[in-house]
Amino acid sequence: MQKTTPLFQQFLDPANRANPYPLLVELRGTPVSLQEDGTYVVSTYRETGQLLRDPRISSDTRNRAAPPRRARSTHFAANPTFLTEDPPAHDHDRAIVMQQFGPPHTPGRIEGLRARIDAITKQLIDAQMGRRRIDMVDTFAFRLPVAVICELLGVPIADADRLHDWSTAVVSRVDAATDDPPTDAQLEHVTQAESELADYMSALLADRRKHPSDDLLSGLVNAEHSGDRLSDAQAINTAMLLMIAGHETTVNLISNGILTFLRHPEVLERVRREPDLLISTVEELLRYEPPVQMRDRTALTDIEIAGVRIPKGAPVVMLLAAANRDEARFANAEQFIPERDDNQHFGFLTGIHYCFGAPLARIEAQIALREFVRRFDAPSLVVDPPPYRPSATLRGPSQLMIDVERVRAIREEPQGLAA
Ligand code: HEM
Repeated sequence: MQKTTPLFQQFLDPANRANPYPLLVELRGTPVSLQEDGTYVVSTYRETGQLLRDPRISSDTRNRAAPPRRARSTHFAANPTFLTEDPPAHDHDRAIVMQQFGPPHTPGRIEGLRARIDAITKQLIDAQMGRRRIDMVDTFAFRLPVAVICELLGVPIADADRLHDWSTAVVSRVDAATDDPPTDAQLEHVTQAESELADYMSALLADRRKHPSDDLLSGLVNAEHSGDRLSDAQAINTAMLLMIAGHETTVNLISNGILTFLRHPEVLERVRREPDLLISTVEELLRYEPPVQMRDRTALTDIEIAGVRIPKGAPVVMLLAAANRDEARFANAEQFIPERDDNQHFGFLTGIHYCFGAPLARIEAQIALREFVRRFDAPSLVVDPPPYRPSATLRGPSQLMIDVERVRAIREEPQGLAA
């Protein structure tokens, strides 16, 4: 008899990247399922929320009983950022960095970017005027978050392509423990990218120490919490984390948004007429097509959940994308409902590692999608489904070709839609 591939392996398979959701329906049938390699996969809303708020769950893979199959980064292992730390180190380091992300320490920093995000968005769309076929990932969904994170950090935008290549290489390490282990050549490529990105950030931080300005990197080298600062190595790694987290995810939120609008023309029309709907629409996107589909953790002790005992040291994968479509939590969970309220999705996680870039990502997506519906006349998908990037964790199209009748000039916008 032919052996069937376990559901979670099928989810990891790039062949299922375009539409993993039917597999997630099946996976939710067993809230906590044990995989052949000893990983526990959690796929329901209640259990995901419980575990993400449980102090017995660790973000530090050094707590694994067996080393992860997907090799840990030696660079980040030497000086971890708070992303892979547990309390108290997590809370301490996160507090230092969060000071740079808005009130009370830097009240204007994120909100103050609104006008710039608006201007960059308009410039990117202006550059497409006169074209009838456009790759919305390459020209827009990727360009906007990269420009914004460069500006926020104080990194020259001229280096955007280089930064993107490094960051793509670094995130290729992110996928879950049960994914195929990387080859030596792949590992070498990642290690090289990490060290080049680290050298790059190190030089910029050294410059900001000598010549501080009002950018985030300057803040990072000077920020302190209870008299304590980040070490030089931590500051470098935090700058790398922000660069990577700041654009590898938001690009997918914007691309998924455009894709979802084109698959639901009635939603696109509604948003065009009622731009205020974009606030709840972006939340629904984060639920329905989350840019971060899963995260992995480690059990610090034996944990009983949903009738399963997860043993100490076991890898635990939290399938955020599955939890977000759990019918037990969300009515009509498989439907895209732009005005959905009571929408506490896990798009930005929950608990102590909740994404603190969320306010920035929301502003970027709301502005990008508002301008897309305003200025693109009769847009349609050239290929559906589009090709996807390989990652199962950071899921999004690698290319999004659209045909458009016309890209409007700003002055031609329909009445009543002025910002
Ligand atoms: C749509 C865009 C984004 C999504 C979907 C997203 C999602 C997430 C998720 C799921 C986590 C939890 C990771 C974990 O603990 O395993 C996270 C953490 C984080 N995100 Fe985001 N993120 C986005 C944008 C951003 C941006 C723009 C920034 C910064 C500029 C950012 C910075 C961070 C940081 C620093 C953490 C670590 C928080 C901690 O460990 O305490 N993110 N994000």
